[in-house]
Amino acid sequence: MKKTPEELRSARWFGGEDLRSFGHRSRAKQMGYAAEDFAGKPVIGIINTWSDLTTCHSHFRTRADEVKRGVWQAGGFPVELPAMPVNETFMKPSPMMYRNFLAMETEELLRSQPIDGAVLMGGCDKTTPGLLMGAISMNIPAIYLPAGPMLRGNWNGQVLGSGSDVWKYWDEKRAGRITDCEWNEMEDGIARSPGHCMTMGTASTMTSIAEALGMTLPGAASIPAVDANHSRMATACGRRVVEMVWEDLKPSDILTHESFRNAITTDMAIGGSTNAIIHLVALAGRAGINLDLKEFDEISQRTPMIANLRPSGQYLMEDFYYAGGLRALLNQIRDLLHLDCQTVSGATLGEDIARARLCNPEVIRSVDHPVSVSGGTAILYGNLAPDGAVIKPTAAEPRLLTHVGPAVVFSSYNEMLERIDDDDLDVDENSVLVLQNAGPLGGPGMPEWGMLPIPKKLLQRGVRDMVRISDARMSGTSYGACVLHVSPESFTGGPLALVRNGDLIELNVTGRKLNLLVADNELAQRRELWKPQPPRYQRGFGALYVEHVTQAHLGCDFDFLHTGAETSEPEIH
Ligand code: FES
Repeated sequence: MKKTPEELRSARWFGGEDLRSFGHRSRAKQMGYAAEDFAGKPVIGIINTWSDLTTCHSHFRTRADEVKRGVWQAGGFPVELPAMPVNETFMKPSPMMYRNFLAMETEELLRSQPIDGAVLMGGCDKTTPGLLMGAISMNIPAIYLPAGPMLRGNWNGQVLGSGSDVWKYWDEKRAGRITDCEWNEMEDGIARSPGHCMTMGTASTMTSIAEALGMTLPGAASIPAVDANHSRMATACGRRVVEMVWEDLKPSDILTHESFRNAITTDMAIGGSTNAIIHLVALAGRAGINLDLKEFDEISQRTPMIANLRPSGQYLMEDFYYAGGLRALLNQIRDLLHLDCQTVSGATLGEDIARARLCNPEVIRSVDHPVSVSGGTAILYGNLAPDGAVIKPTAAEPRLLTHVGPAVVFSSYNEMLERIDDDDLDVDENSVLVLQNAGPLGGPGMPEWGMLPIPKKLLQRGVRDMVRISDARMSGTSYGACVLHVSPESFTGGPLALVRNGDLIELNVTGRKLNLLVADNELAQRRELWKPQPPRYQRGFGALYVEHVTQAHLGCDFDFLHTGAETSEPEIH
């Protein structure tokens, strides 16, 4: 049943006859609005993560105006609310430290102000989970508007993909195979329009997941940022969220265990970023749903990877859009999805994808002709990772997926940088590079250090992949036999802290195993000698972070944000 204007949340601010309501109305009029503009209308908060340094969102000031156009058309009252512009490129020590900050800010911006519904504007990696986590906890009608990928990179007639080609050509430069001049030319061509990274990195993965969860309008995740269809999508979000307020269609009506299973299936079919696992666990936790890492592995084993996109495949997001985009991909795997899940469109996922057309079967493969017969991510367990670790086998050299080799251990990223290219480093192509103290607390913020560089002397011998193990994450645009998210992390005394140079490590992706081949009594002795380091922060947001962040297998949310009784609406006095 449709809501009445008196039932709007914002009516508590604008609808009364008391002193405070006078203040709220007079201050709305201070902006030049008349009562006809806002009285009895859904107030739509447009949460905008624009900033000059969030370069993936450089078109968001225009897009916010286009969202407003839709809100006005549908009879709502739009207000733009800037929020923590978490960006992947410039924020240190790691933008992951600030995902929960954005989630808290989103939730409290919506709660503390007269907002009936929200359009969430994000796209750069952590913004998608951050905005959605906050909106799930606030639980008012909300639509996610993804920034859209940037155009393909271009250098010398060759297509360049964000991240993936940077790592690739950096190794070629270190091996002496490309010149400084060529490297500088690439800098001009790799990021040549607004929009997020256009490989199937974390940004494209998370926006696709938002669509599969039902939190975007159909087709929204694949439209390139600079395409005129993106502007029309922004306006459509504004129109639709006003209707959602009247329908009272909230995240809790959309997000179920089945919709999260759809999201995981999608993640596997697109060959999504390993980061998605952490974010999905955190998002589900906000919705009161417990996602075990084993569920990811189970879905991975039965889901073919059919998106032929870098870093696991060949093409880029612009090609994916022209091939039919995410809807066409979901249509290919419709037998693996819960099609009756509700989406923000007001229809079911099955209805949203029913008319999707596949225009290029090389970019979006069929399930009978996949890029890989199983999904893009595998979960490993063993005495080195009792709570799990993650690998993206589709982005690794197959010969390394079953491997035993001696460890070369670095106790910090700085130590690794100092030693990795040393000619005297005792390393060969069978070695296993191990990085410690790079997890949620040790990094801090679990930086994307997991794709450790190949030692220069091996690069020069033609080695391009090795087994690498850490409690860090890696960029969704990265590739290689990198075991990530080892949990519990070494900084807290997890088994990774006990590894020493020369120890044999066994990786068996088919068997889902990661083991340190050292006797238990020897490990017990090493544990006795292990000493914890002091926390990385003693004050400020960092202190809040180190006190409350959970481990990777639990989603790295703050413990107090996914537990406890529901927060009540603010009193207005
Ligand atoms: Fe923003 Fe990659 S830097 S998505």
